Amino acid sequence: MVASRLGQWLSLLVCGLIILKTEGYDVEITYVESAVAKGAVCLDGSAPAYHFSPGFGAGVNNWLVHIEGGGWCNNATTCLSRKSTRLGSSKQMVKKVAFSGMLSNKKQFNPDFYDWNKIKVRYCDGASFTGDVEAVNPATKLHYRGARVFLAIVEDLMAKGMKNAKNAVLSGCSAGGLTSILHCDKFRGLFPMSTKVKCFADAGYFINVKDVSGANHIEKFYSEVVATHGSAKNLPAYCTSKLKPELCFFPQHMAREIATPIFIVNAAYDSWQIKNILAPGVADPHGTWHSCKLDINNCSPTQLQTMQDFRKQFLIALTGLGNSSTKGVFIDSCYAHCQTEMQETWLRKDSPVLENISIAKAVGDWFYDRSPFHKVDCPYPCNPTCHNRIFDPKSVHQLEIDI
Ligand SMILES: *[C@@H]1O[C@H](CO)[C@@H](O)[C@H](O)[C@H]1NC(C)=O
Ligand SMILES: *[C@@H]1O[C@H](CO)[C@@H](O)[C@H](O)[C@H]1NC(C)=O
Ligand SMILES: *[C@@H]1O[C@H](CO)[C@@H](O)[C@H](O)[C@H]1NC(C)=O
Repeated sequence: MVASRLGQWLSLLVCGLIILKTEGYDVEITYVESAVAKGAVCLDGSAPAYHFSPGFGAGVNNWLVHIEGGGWCNNATTCLSRKSTRLGSSKQMVKKVAFSGMLSNKKQFNPDFYDWNKIKVRYCDGASFTGDVEAVNPATKLHYRGARVFLAIVEDLMAKGMKNAKNAVLSGCSAGGLTSILHCDKFRGLFPMSTKVKCFADAGYFINVKDVSGANHIEKFYSEVVATHGSAKNLPAYCTSKLKPELCFFPQHMAREIATPIFIVNAAYDSWQIKNILAPGVADPHGTWHSCKLDINNCSPTQLQTMQDFRKQFLIALTGLGNSSTKGVFIDSCYAHCQTEMQETWLRKDSPVLENISIAKAVGDWFYDRSPFHKVDCPYPCNPTCHNRIFDPKSVHQLEIDI
């Protein structure tokens, strides 16, 4: 009896492991040592890095460059504490990461991109690859060089064959999604006109709104990021010529003028934005929002109303994208952040859909010009297909960087 129970448990465990295995595969790290001589380095001066899974079959000339997320550091203190983590040093990065979702190599999990060359670029500069400060403070030894890292990595990939790409996508999640928005036209400009290039941002549409205390928390935070990293000169000039540079770090102020086709996937109740833009710790000294931020089911009616107002502001900010037919939009009413890197939200029987269309299908149809996609979900809790995030209470001290 006991033995058969154990047997059942073991077979369940094995099944579980097989499912995990079919949903992701490990890809080795590549360090871009040649970037160091160009001063294109992580916060601690180490070489930048990516994980590369070569294309195969019909996909050998297609390239998906996906940028990792991980928040930002806004001053020497926060950058210094990030310097000794994987988000500031390639010495701290794990050697292998699992590719799944949009990075899966299985046709049934990723029908339009499975056979592409797939790259996950590691994030180690702390400013969405916009920084470029020549001077290195001798006390902190911090390098603010994200913009150089971006170029050095793209150049390295070009030399590995990306220069012959037939199709190319710059994508990313969270701070990496913002990178793909801010650098979209720059990336496009590095390819010949004959290459079909598009950009795709998952959970990168961070909006400029007041927090629950009425303060402009995120705008102040971004102004510190931009000042610390010397980002202004690497943000689109059509924006910085009109607005303060920190405003040009917000997609709503610069995305309309992106000439390259771009697709935005975002939850209307983006969990990172709710936790860090709408109700950051500094705006909620009594922790009233604490349990609501961990699980949307815990939110009071008043808090839910505040989140509905946040969604309205999100949709207003989204008009900053413009309505060109080259722009795609998938805004679901989920409490989520980054829905393309995980199989369960990218493409599975139970993954989120808008009018029956999964994120994988919407993005694939749009990339290959099979059909445009521009849909915004009805308000929470109308979409039963959402995978709403539930956070571990222990993760709370990490809110500023978690994805
Ligand atoms: C750096 O930024 C953090 C987070 O916004 C803040 O708490 C801290 O006071 C800042 N430190 C300095 C020296 O400005
Ligand atoms: C885009 O918006 C403008 C004004 O906001 C409108 O005049 C135009 O018809 C819209 N175009 C499309 C394709 O919806
Ligand atoms: C959604 O797709 C499923 C399976 O393909 C189908 O059975 C269902 O009728 C569709 N629903 C709508 C609203 O189109």
